[in-house]
Amino acid sequence: MRYDKNSQSAENIKKAFGDEAAGHARYMLFGEEARRNGEEHLANVYDRLASEELAHAEMWLREMGGVGGTEENLNASIAEEKHDWMMHYMPYASTADHEGYEELTERFLNTANVEKRHEAELKEILGSRRNGSFYRDSEAVEWRCGNCGYVGISENAPAVCPLCGYPRGYFRRG
Ligand SMILES: [Fe+2]
Ligand SMILES: [Fe+2]
Repeated sequence: MRYDKNSQSAENIKKAFGDEAAGHARYMLFGEEARRNGEEHLANVYDRLASEELAHAEMWLREMGGVGGTEENLNASIAEEKHDWMMHYMPYASTADHEGYEELTERFLNTANVEKRHEAELKEILGSRRNGSFYRDSEAVEWRCGNCGYVGISENAPAVCPLCGYPRGYFRRG
């Protein structure tokens, strides 16, 4: 689609993505709650709505060019995680602290820490993909198949799982 990147419409697409993503999360949780209360039919409706909202979120995110190749996505998510803990949760924590909300301060700080770990985890994955060590070690190590639980010992992760036949992408160090 063609529109000016600085237009109100571009801004609206961004907002639409945020709303659809939040709607997806909300309906997933409402569905779980309905299921917990024995309202299976309602839970199924929420499940369907949740997946339709996710489809809308995807549509708008793709429209913004927000889904790229693996490297690009890793870089984007690393930046996003960093932005979240640094620019959002840390300032949220100090505001809560200034306002005298101790528990909330603690919760913002704890969430910031988790986002920081997300950033580090993704960074490590990106780095090991770049230097080729993601599926390769310098010595024989355990590789575990995330599909069937098969464990093998070798330098390289198996190209396919000898037990279930799933591809290398399912393996991680035991
Ligand atoms: Fe995160
Ligand atoms: Fe397997």
